[in-house]
Amino acid sequence: MAALRVGVLTSSDTRAAGDAEDTSGKALIELAEARGWEVVAYHLLPDDAGRIAGALIQMADEDACDVVFTTGGTGIGPRDVLPETTLGVCDREVPGIGQVIRGESLAITDRAMLSRGTAGQRGRTLIINLPGSEKAVRESFGFVAGVLEHAAEMMAGGGHG
Ligand code: MTE
Repeated sequence: MAALRVGVLTSSDTRAAGDAEDTSGKALIELAEARGWEVVAYHLLPDDAGRIAGALIQMADEDACDVVFTTGGTGIGPRDVLPETTLGVCDREVPGIGQVIRGESLAITDRAMLSRGTAGQRGRTLIINLPGSEKAVRESFGFVAGVLEHAAEMMAGGGHG
């Protein structure tokens, strides 16, 4: 199949303000490209639900991304809005992805239970929430990357024959 079209969105007040480097978004771009996927969109935004929703819709509907990875904003801080913002723009939730990321991550750190990250489908785009640190991004990507080409085929109507 053709290379996956990938979007990356970082939700971080400090990084969007230029006070810190977006090492997590950059890691996602590097990890996706290492798989031969094409990164067609990248957004670095503050933790603002309206702006995040707009970028997610753009990456799904205009950029025709197969997969959008978000990083950050999955926790329980007052500015963490990614799960609800993701579900707000999606047609349906894909709960297993967040379950696997949390489950596998718990073997690495108890703090994984503090991530509320989920995934959802908007049309033919799968939006996946990852936590905010570069470490968490690298770990979580590895837990889900292997199923994403099959996910794209399923969203395009491909069956199991
Ligand atoms: N998952 C993995 N695999 N590795 C990690 O280091 N960090 C956790 C958790 N999930 C972590 C992880 C921490 S410390 C927090 S607070 C939550 O993700 C939420 O992070 P976020 O608010 O940056 O999205």
